[in-house]
Amino acid sequence: MKALVVYESLWGNTAAIAGAIARGIGPDATALPTGAATGPVLEGVDLLVVGAPVLGFRLGTDEMLQEIATSERNAPSPPDLSQPSMRSWLDALPAGHAAFAAFETGLWWSPGGATGTISKKLAAAGYRAAGRPTRFVVKGRYGPLRDGEIERAMRWGAELTEAARPDRASPEAQT
Ligand SMILES: Cc1cc2nc3c(=O)[nH]c(=O)nc-3n(C[C@H](O)[C@H](O)[C@H](O)COP(=O)(O)O)c2cc1C
Repeated sequence: MKALVVYESLWGNTAAIAGAIARGIGPDATALPTGAATGPVLEGVDLLVVGAPVLGFRLGTDEMLQEIATSERNAPSPPDLSQPSMRSWLDALPAGHAAFAAFETGLWWSPGGATGTISKKLAAAGYRAAGRPTRFVVKGRYGPLRDGEIERAMRWGAELTEAARPDRASPEAQT
C-alpha cells in the first residue's frame, strides 16, 4: 500500500509527527512537506495522511502565515515559511479516491482545530475518510511535543494501514 504523509510545519513539530506516522505505516510510506507533494508523487497513492498545526484556532490562512513571518519575534527559531500553505496545497490537489486521514498539532486545551477544514477539502475532492481526525499535543506555543506523542503517532500510523484497506468502509459508515 503506497502511503503519503503530507504536512505543513513552521517549527518542526508537525514534521516530526508526520515522520513518525510514516514510520508507523511502514516502508511504503513517505512524509513530505507540501511543496514536495505534487505531480507524480501523488500518483497511485492508496492512503493520504494530511496534517498541519492549529494556528489561531484553525488551519492557518495564507494571510496568517505571512503575518507570522514578522509577528513571532520571540520564537526560539524563525518559522519555516518556504513551503506552500496547507490550504493552498489542498486547493490545488487533484481529485482522487484514495483513503485519507487528517491530523493536527496543537495545545491540549485549545478549542478549534485544523483537521475539520483538511477533512472537508479532501472529502470534496473525492477522498474517503479512513481514520478519526487526531490531535498530537505540544507543551507550548512553539513546542516541544508532549512526551509520548511520537510513539502515539507511530501507533496511529499502524492503525491507519488497517483502516485504509480498500475493503473497509469509512468509520462514519460503520456507526
Ligand atoms: C501564531 C501561533 C498561533 C497558534 N495558535 C494555536 C491555537 O489556536 N491552538 C493551538 O492549539 N495551538 C496554537 N499554536 C501552537 C501551535 O499549533 C503548535 O506549536 C504547533 O505544534 C506548531 O506546529 P509546527 O511546529 O509544525 O509549526 C499557535 C502557535 C503560534 C505560533
